[in-house]
Amino acid sequence: MFITFEGIDGCGKSTQAKMLFELLNKSGSAVLTHEPGGWDGGASLRALVLNGGLRHSWSEFYLFMLDRSEHAARVIEPAIAAGKHVICERYHDSTLAYQVWGRKLPYGPLHDALSLASLPVPNITFFFSIAPEKALSRVSKRGAADAFESEGLAFMKRVDEGYRTLAKNESTRWVVIECGDKTPDEIFECVRNSLREKGLCL
Ligand code: TYD
Repeated sequence: MFITFEGIDGCGKSTQAKMLFELLNKSGSAVLTHEPGGWDGGASLRALVLNGGLRHSWSEFYLFMLDRSEHAARVIEPAIAAGKHVICERYHDSTLAYQVWGRKLPYGPLHDALSLASLPVPNITFFFSIAPEKALSRVSKRGAADAFESEGLAFMKRVDEGYRTLAKNESTRWVVIECGDKTPDEIFECVRNSLREKGLCL
């Protein structure tokens, strides 16, 4: 199964991805990966897109697509072909939420880019929903802000709205988890239950 984890910066998805990876790895084999930069050679691209001071929104988009194409070809597709579960933190829905709703690039061409490049579509996508104010306050404690973290509250609210719209429009693929004041263990129970409903033995 190809499972993606999405949400605004500071939503807590890395903790959840790690918990799921550990669980799936007990009963079979799983791969935990992320974008941008989840492939050999991806680190320099990650540094460029997050901290390179890019001045054009389309540069960002092309770099994310370049990163995703290599990541899919080198990591995601081989793992799926080998029968492994792939857990990926951020994928094409990040591009739609951040570059369309956040940066205001057009939806149509960015949406179509995934199928034009023949990249795999996730079986299930989790959206970890958290108030943008709370997420930003967590992010501000993590150290130097990158190109997105420094955009501020209005930007994160647009990205959040983007995720909600995407989830509503494709409700069979998406699972929205309202994190609220839930603990990481309680949130993980929601993840686990949703995967059980999709037929995964957990
Ligand atoms: P990262 O440090 O991985 O953030 P997080 O730990 O919150 O996931 O940084 C990734 C940043 O890049 C994040 O702010 C979202 C942004 N991003 C996009 O704007 N578009 C994309 O397609 C991807 C993959 C990420």
